[in-house]
Amino acid sequence: MEFARLIFAAIFIPLLINMVAAYSPPCKFKAIYNFGDSNSDTGAISAAIFPRQWPNGETFFGKPAGRVCNGRLMIDFIAERLGLPLLSSYLDSIGSNFRHGANFASGGSTIVPQNKTIAESGLSPFALNVQIFQFDQFKARTADLYRENKKYSCRNQFLPRSNEFADALYVFDIGQNDIAYGLRTVGDAQVLASIPDMITQLALAVQNLYTQGARTFWIHNTGPIGCLPSTLLSISNPPPGFLDNHGCVKTQNDIAQEFNRQLKNRVVKLRADLPQAAITYVDIYAAKYGLISNSKQQGFVDAKKICCGYHKNGIDVGCGGILALPNGTQISGTSCKDPSSYISWDGVHYTEAANHWISNLLINGSISDPPIPITHACYTTS
Ligand SMILES: *[C@@H]1O[C@H](CO)[C@@H](O)[C@H](O)[C@H]1NC(C)=O
Ligand SMILES: *[C@@H]1O[C@H](CO)[C@@H](O)[C@H](O)[C@H]1NC(C)=O
Ligand SMILES: *[C@@H]1O[C@H](CO)[C@@H](O)[C@H](O)[C@H]1NC(C)=O
Repeated sequence: MEFARLIFAAIFIPLLINMVAAYSPPCKFKAIYNFGDSNSDTGAISAAIFPRQWPNGETFFGKPAGRVCNGRLMIDFIAERLGLPLLSSYLDSIGSNFRHGANFASGGSTIVPQNKTIAESGLSPFALNVQIFQFDQFKARTADLYRENKKYSCRNQFLPRSNEFADALYVFDIGQNDIAYGLRTVGDAQVLASIPDMITQLALAVQNLYTQGARTFWIHNTGPIGCLPSTLLSISNPPPGFLDNHGCVKTQNDIAQEFNRQLKNRVVKLRADLPQAAITYVDIYAAKYGLISNSKQQGFVDAKKICCGYHKNGIDVGCGGILALPNGTQISGTSCKDPSSYISWDGVHYTEAANHWISNLLINGSISDPPIPITHACYTTS
């Protein structure tokens, strides 16, 4: 009897959710506000610190477009699916359009502020708490400007409407750099010990936005960091059991999964604490690992191969970089012939083709909890 009930639930609840999604009207998201790192940076580091170089952007934009990718990121596919323009970075003062949201993500950002310069650490000065300060300013100043401009309404065309912040989708994709930087500097045990602090600070950011009226949250977990080809390049003779069946560093993926486990638990708690919110937890790890472990079947080359940059005979030239050898030969970090068949763009970041593949799952609810398509993931009072 219990078993029959379980089978019933296992089969019919997902069906029901899909039916509800199919027959209920889609959400009317008016804007997207995104917080994160290079996985979703659409121009912050490029505008504020150093421009992203060619061949970044070559496939979709035909020029560098502030992203570390040959084309679009997951956040771009999300915007497209919701019928909204691609997000401008808050820090980009040139040609930006904030009518339908803004992007606070910046490459190298951590959840927990590390208080190190970008030169010392490679980390962004715009940790999650700073991104939230930037959002606060953005919200207050655009509201002010909108009021002052009323008479000259054409000036308002690139500003958000104050009443649309509540109907926005608030997206988070952050944590990978906290783990990566910790692994490089303090080691596995200390990274594990600091995960609760990372989760608490991420939850505080969500609570802060909720207090300001945000109602719909879409929270990505962190990917399989132990599968990043740049890490694997530096491992020559791994001891038995160090790598898993797909060639990924086991201990690193275990840490990423521990982060994800604690994040998922906290999302459950946040749902109880913030009753007027819809909070979706998205299993990016499962999608990325699924792709990496099935690269051939999905039409991609070996997941360890890197499309952009030069990594041979002990020589490493990053994507878009140039190295002069002592004998006068120059080596450039150019891109591969067919980026659409690669998963890894530069060893750390994914190609547009991989981002597109992951986004197809992300958008239709098949990797999210609850399993609702993104078009239906909003908070509703009814
Ligand atoms: C960085 O500074 C902030 C503010 O003083 C502090 O809360 C945080 O713990 C520091 N981070 C680290 C990793 O020491
Ligand atoms: C310079 O050194 C590189 C790497 O050893 C080699 O491939 C290249 O042929 C050399 N070029 C010249 C002009 O000797
Ligand atoms: C979501 O999309 C993926 C990839 O296109 C597909 O394999 C999967 O069956 C879809 N899932 C649902 C619930 O529609």
